[in-house]
Amino acid sequence: MEKKRKPPVRGLEGIVAADTRLCYVDGQNGKLYYCGYDIDELAGRVCFEEIVHLLWGGGLPDLDTLDDWRPQLVAEMRLPAQVLDLLRMAPPGANPMVLLRTAVSALGLWDPDGGRNSLPANERKARRILAQVATIVAAIYRLRQGEPIITADKSLGFAANFLYMFHGKVPSKQDQAVFDTLLVLHADHGLAASTFAARATVSTLAGMHSAIAAALASLKGPLHGGANTRVMEMLEDIGDAKRVKAYVDGMLSSGQRIMGFGHRVYKTEDPRSRHLRRFSQKLSKRARTKALLEISSQIERHVLEKKGIFPNVDFYSATVQEALGIPKEYFTCTFAIARTAGWIGHVLEQFTDNRLIRPTSNYTGGFGKKFVPVAKR
Ligand code: ACO
Repeated sequence: MEKKRKPPVRGLEGIVAADTRLCYVDGQNGKLYYCGYDIDELAGRVCFEEIVHLLWGGGLPDLDTLDDWRPQLVAEMRLPAQVLDLLRMAPPGANPMVLLRTAVSALGLWDPDGGRNSLPANERKARRILAQVATIVAAIYRLRQGEPIITADKSLGFAANFLYMFHGKVPSKQDQAVFDTLLVLHADHGLAASTFAARATVSTLAGMHSAIAAALASLKGPLHGGANTRVMEMLEDIGDAKRVKAYVDGMLSSGQRIMGFGHRVYKTEDPRSRHLRRFSQKLSKRARTKALLEISSQIERHVLEKKGIFPNVDFYSATVQEALGIPKEYFTCTFAIARTAGWIGHVLEQFTDNRLIRPTSNYTGGFGKKFVPVAKR
């Protein structure tokens, strides 16, 4: 009989479960690094394709490499007809994240490298999955709007193509730039719950589609990527900056969490939220964004005063995405598009030195129970 082990660390806080060269979150100083580069240096100065190249082990590309890399990703922004049929068959009210997770699982069935785990096969799947995740999100929206599916435009980059395939028109330069940086800011974040799910899944050699489906399942929850949709629901519910204090006080006194606030690692301001706040201000000439921003600023001030906690990436991402014309039901999906780059980076990294991830648990049940056959219970 096994001896009782020491108690578990709740939520695995502070437990080191992997080495990674991809990302460092400095929670004390509010800094985030991708492969050694400070996110403050990168934000607004690199495009998403550069970050994908960086996170997948290639470093920051030079211009020639980028010119070659971008079309490789854009060329994969298309879906097997069977996956489009699956999207068409889904119940019209299905949560887009559930549909995205299901569609990524289905992609594995038709991927020419579906069952292969070699490095070249994984590199091909990496490009396909990232591009297809964005394409699925756009397709879900278009189908629900009763609009035709749009084919990617080879003259546009990844971020611009997503907005183009989603809205059906080429976005303004400003919207392209803002969305591009939003993707950059969401691309990786250490061993977040979804990234851990991806690494744990692939550690069994289950394959990249399974890992990304597992990560999507984890990201969906409101304590993780699902928070951005809840932020917008809260902003709409409040409706007027004058109501902020009463609303927040009511939530806190009834033990509810304010969505888009707090973080396991950051004990100070999340650097991503600083950039997203700036974008919201930039876009606030749009009347609705201005009103949402006013409510958001009041919430930020009041929650800091009452609880001493700061906004996380999900708080201002809601207002920014709203300003880009993305409905709140899709906020977590766009987060997923960006984070797929990080998940895949971690999957590729896990494969370089894989060992099955299999922690243990502290058994709290009893021993010595007398078995009684079913007919006699
Ligand atoms: N609103 C109110 N109180 C909060 C919040 C919040 N948003 N976040 C933490 N707290 C409080 C908790 O109630 C708890 O207080 P107590 O000790 O008095 O009980 C204390 O802070 C610690 O909370 P934990 O849940 O133990 O902290 P943890 O590190 O596990 O939580 C989490 C991190 C889940 C992100 C939490 O801050 C939260 O629920 N935030 C709201 C949801 C959210 O925005 N999620 C997105 C996170 S970023 C991302 O995943 C992309």
